[in-house]
Amino acid sequence: MNAKPFLKWAGGKNQILYELESRIPLEIRKSGIIDRYVEPFVGGGAFFFLIKNKYEIKQTFLIDINKELILAYKTIKKNPLELIQKLKNLEESFFKLSNKAKKGLFYEIRRLYNNHIKIFDYDNFNDDWIERSAFLIFLNKTCFNGLFRQNRKGEFNVPYGDYKNPKICDAENIIEVSNALKYSEIINGDFEISEKFIEKGTFVYFDPPYRPLNKTSAFTRYSKEDFNDEDQKRLAIFYRQMSDRGAYLMLSNSDPKNQNPDDNFFDELYKDFNIDRVLANRMINCNGDKRGKIKEIVITNYK
Ligand SMILES: C[S@@+](CC[C@H](N)C(=O)[O-])C[C@H]1O[C@@H](n2cnc3c(N)ncnc32)[C@H](O)[C@@H]1O
Repeated sequence: MNAKPFLKWAGGKNQILYELESRIPLEIRKSGIIDRYVEPFVGGGAFFFLIKNKYEIKQTFLIDINKELILAYKTIKKNPLELIQKLKNLEESFFKLSNKAKKGLFYEIRRLYNNHIKIFDYDNFNDDWIERSAFLIFLNKTCFNGLFRQNRKGEFNVPYGDYKNPKICDAENIIEVSNALKYSEIINGDFEISEKFIEKGTFVYFDPPYRPLNKTSAFTRYSKEDFNDEDQKRLAIFYRQMSDRGAYLMLSNSDPKNQNPDDNFFDELYKDFNIDRVLANRMINCNGDKRGKIKEIVITNYK
């Protein structure tokens, strides 16, 4: 079995994976080897797991600003077996309950998860990491729409999902993910810290949060995870600097032209690079024809 994302994550890249894969630099496709891979906005890691299953990657650096997500990656890397045990226990308790009590358990775990934030030691690995990661996975699998959304205080605030058979413990995949993470460094922080790991020949995939199309959210930042137009500009400067180092860079984002054909925001920021527009398997509205499909942009600094 191949490793796949262990969480459902907003902005997951499943819909354009094929388009991304077909844009992997030719040198890498020919040799089948990636000496160094860096992903500064890893999220659920759909693209990382895809290439990890197909290429030999010698060194990997995965970065994200979300500390809960990074905590779970690190736990899976370090101690998959205890995590699986915790998830199995949770799964067993959950499925024994009536529907009403299942919902009760969800809210109890959500309450504990949020209460622990203030006292949690995110810096030093200890047993609490296993419980917290198990709670995160449990909540992600049983909440509405399977997402991870936090309020400004960092509290998880998605309601119960009421799904029939959520797969709370996917033991096989957790083992595969743990193996896939063997030669990786997993780091919590802003994308700019990836600068330390990028050198000539490094393959970097950037998947920043989508650009908000409404004016207020394009300018305001409510939490650390928010990414406004200033951040998109900061990223474009970073992209150019890393390109000058001789790294292979691929970046994806939503295409603002879906909403406004005259919006040239990314075309201007990345005017010296290759900008491709690809169809994602999502609709702007439900009419199902080609014009209704959302376009995304993929930017590379190589042909
Ligand atoms: C579009 S998602 C990535 C989705 C991912 N490719 C996947 O397949 O699930 C963007 C990610 O960027 C992270 N993020 C937001 N601001 C960031 C920043 N300044 N530096 C690094 N990561 C950031 C978010 O926490 C989120 O996980």
